[in-house]
Amino acid sequence: MKISVIGAGHVGLMTAACFAEKGHRVVCVDNNREKIETLMKKQVPFYEPGMDEVMTRNIDSGRLSFSHSLKDAVDQGDLIFISVGTPPTATGEADLSYIENVSRDIGKYLTSYRVIIEKSTVPVRTGERLRETILKHLQNKSVEFDVASNPEFLREGSAIQDAMKPDRIVIGVSSPRAEKMLRELYEPFGAPIVVTDIKSAELIKHASNSFLAMKISFINAVASVCELAGANVDDVARGMGMDSRIGPHFLNAGIGYGGSCFPKDLEAFVAISKMLGYPFTLLEEVQKINADARDRFLKKIEHELWVVKGKHIAMLGLAFKSDTDDVRNSVPIEIAQVLTQKGAKLVAYDPKAITTAREVLKGAVFASDPYEAVTGADCMLLMTEWNEFRKLDFDRIKSLMAHPVILDGRNMYDPAVLRSKGFQYISVGRP
Ligand code: NAD
Ligand code: UGA
Repeated sequence: MKISVIGAGHVGLMTAACFAEKGHRVVCVDNNREKIETLMKKQVPFYEPGMDEVMTRNIDSGRLSFSHSLKDAVDQGDLIFISVGTPPTATGEADLSYIENVSRDIGKYLTSYRVIIEKSTVPVRTGERLRETILKHLQNKSVEFDVASNPEFLREGSAIQDAMKPDRIVIGVSSPRAEKMLRELYEPFGAPIVVTDIKSAELIKHASNSFLAMKISFINAVASVCELAGANVDDVARGMGMDSRIGPHFLNAGIGYGGSCFPKDLEAFVAISKMLGYPFTLLEEVQKINADARDRFLKKIEHELWVVKGKHIAMLGLAFKSDTDDVRNSVPIEIAQVLTQKGAKLVAYDPKAITTAREVLKGAVFASDPYEAVTGADCMLLMTEWNEFRKLDFDRIKSLMAHPVILDGRNMYDPAVLRSKGFQYISVGRP
């Protein structure tokens, strides 16, 4: 099939590369010229494991190409995926201006039947506005088109695996013709296909992300109770997760969820629900608990150090999660900002996110490995669950630190082991 993808970000690039990998001819379009030039040189503008091989393979085979012309996307693809950003506005709603811009141009350039598919995460009823906008800008009003919704569920860090072997594929359609084309595209992926109307598909995405965020806040709230009661949240989560109705995933207590998606998608879901007439107070509480998880961790740091000003704090991990260099809405970065504002000497290390962190984290020093970061430190913070941090030499770390204090925001280490090595060790929801 001939496919166009508009927006070459984490989702668009992955979508384009995966369809090309399945044998389709794909053009991926972005209005950021610099990004397109980078991609044309076969360089991926962000870190995603395995992405460069998939991309290079498909560029070399001639199936994947790039352009900065939206007209190319409209001319070339029978299926046109929109995967531009939907960031939050100052008041929390999804900023749909990128989607609107793209839909205007699609209308302008459309000359024959196409299916235009929302891949970006959008509030319910965006599909209706997308259709209206395209219609309004159509030069030839007799040209037919369909709008569809096909939300994306990939996670950064495991995007290829998630996109190539999804748990399910959701297709929201309003015509049998669009359904047939999308089924043909997705059947080779071998995953269950859920076909719904467009509004339900849009809601599946917001509801799924909100539910996952709710699981995280739930376990973070349980962690707070565990701390007061002297219980162990990891054991509680393990015991809960073995119930197949609950499941073991997204029950890791820590410093709260971050990233470019959960925080903004919850805000947008709360906002659209309120606009429709339903105040989704449960999700407001989820957000509150999430902020509280970060603040509680900050309080633990202050409790250990007493005065933060002038203290050398070693921070291991800056990305919002492991296996990515993405620091958008990263909780480690938020914590680092508070500590540097309070006058700490923050020395940070991350395997992949130092370049991206430098842009947003002023006043910190960046180390080239964990041992350099901890040298002379008053405490070490473990903030992102990179595998590299599992295998640290703690005898060496202890010998390098001024004071052997570790605060673990991801419950990565065994408290008994670290205490036996002479560390003062504090984690989340564990005695
Ligand atoms: P991103 O910011 O990384 O990429 C968006 C891209 O769209 C940018 O490269 C930007 O230059 C481009 N763009 C903006 N306006 C354009 C225009 N008019 N024409 C062409 N290109 C344009 O965003 P992302 O992380 O890929 O997310 C995209 C959407 O997918 C969001 O709605 C997000 O919520 C959703 N989503 C993201 C993930 C994820 O893991 N990042 C997963 C699932 C869904
Ligand atoms: C999330 C969803 O998992 C994807 O399905 C979805 O497609 C994506 O958002 C999106 O819509 O953009 P992502 O943000 O890449 O993916 O990362 P997650 O693995 O979900 O982690 C999100 C945050 O929750 C991270 O800060 C992570 O550290 C935190 N988290 C996750 C926890 O604190 N505990 C957990 O048990 C799991």
